[in-house]
Amino acid sequence: MSLYITLVFLSLHFYNTKPVSITTYNNSALTFNGKIPEGKVAWQSPSNIALVKYWGKKEVQIPCNPSISFTLKESYTETVVEYKPTSDKSKVQFSLDGKINDQFGDKISNYFNSIEPVFPFIKQLDFTIHSKNTFPHSAGIASSASGMSALALCLCSIEKENFNTFDTEDSFFQKASFLARLGSGSAARSLYSGMVSWGTIEGNKETSNLWGTAQNKNIHPDFLTFHDSILIVDAGQKKVSSRIGHGLMNNNPYAETRFKQAQSNIKELLVALKTGNMEKFINITESEALTLHAMMMTSNPYYLLMKPNTLQIIERVFDYRKSTGIPIAFTLDAGPNIHLLYPAKVRSEVSSFIQAELKQFTHQSMIIEDKVGNGPVKLIV
Ligand code: PMV
Repeated sequence: MSLYITLVFLSLHFYNTKPVSITTYNNSALTFNGKIPEGKVAWQSPSNIALVKYWGKKEVQIPCNPSISFTLKESYTETVVEYKPTSDKSKVQFSLDGKINDQFGDKISNYFNSIEPVFPFIKQLDFTIHSKNTFPHSAGIASSASGMSALALCLCSIEKENFNTFDTEDSFFQKASFLARLGSGSAARSLYSGMVSWGTIEGNKETSNLWGTAQNKNIHPDFLTFHDSILIVDAGQKKVSSRIGHGLMNNNPYAETRFKQAQSNIKELLVALKTGNMEKFINITESEALTLHAMMMTSNPYYLLMKPNTLQIIERVFDYRKSTGIPIAFTLDAGPNIHLLYPAKVRSEVSSFIQAELKQFTHQSMIIEDKVGNGPVKLIV
């Protein structure tokens, strides 16, 4: 079977997998009795970049290993949700950057159907949703993380405003993280500022497979100043989606070893983040990026998402670090684009390096400047 046909087959297979019911947060009391309200809520929510990668999942959106990321500052989604009583069956109209997008609209409808046990009021409402991203769709920034976290926050706000639930801010964000995760795994980490983990870390009772956990306690201040210069090597649509990539881990012969490695990497990385051990940070971050892509290369069917220019940049980062001693690390998402991570104090040196040596390998000189951010913001509408 050709790679393409196999991937289409796998994609259909996973699409048809029957979801296991959601048990946590199911609440039949969240149903409107009497007059059904109308209203509007809005949130801004950021994307994130993983340092220890989530790759491989079980039903329903349970990660096979814990992950940790930086929340970004400039790359975010703004989502406005208008709701009103439905005349018949709950309907969703979705627009992205001012244009109606039925494909995303259908995905959101499916997502809403899947979370009805959590929010039974969904079936009593029609929704008009307007979203916009601050970054181009093709930029290799996880728009699903910012988009799904913004949407989950809007739904939690509808609950809060109409049912007067949530005793604490923590309980609000935890539920939003739970719901964001069901839309896109990595979105579970976009609900908090700074460093955020998702997935149970052995020996750490504060972490969970169901939602993200902020990890900013005692983090060395250098890490909270980190910049992320995103070098766009290829702006095209990637050939293999993350959903298929996660699924291919089921038969990857190295999967179990990888899941164990991620457990130990995340524990070591948390120590490095607290002690300010930059060398360890660089070592784990880069190894995680290459391991993610090694998992793609050792899947069956195998595939490659890095491009020749991705490797050109990586080689130059190695050389630059060796010759200058400047603490700079690269990481990769499930795509060819490079995220360069470095503390604010070396910003001017790194900018010169990017201009002189790395820009030549980018697509149309596309570079997005981002840094560690402060998490979601509720918008007044
Ligand atoms: O959230 P998803 O299903 O798009 O998967 C994201 C996977 C990676 O971006 C490659 C890693 C991560 O932890 O964000």
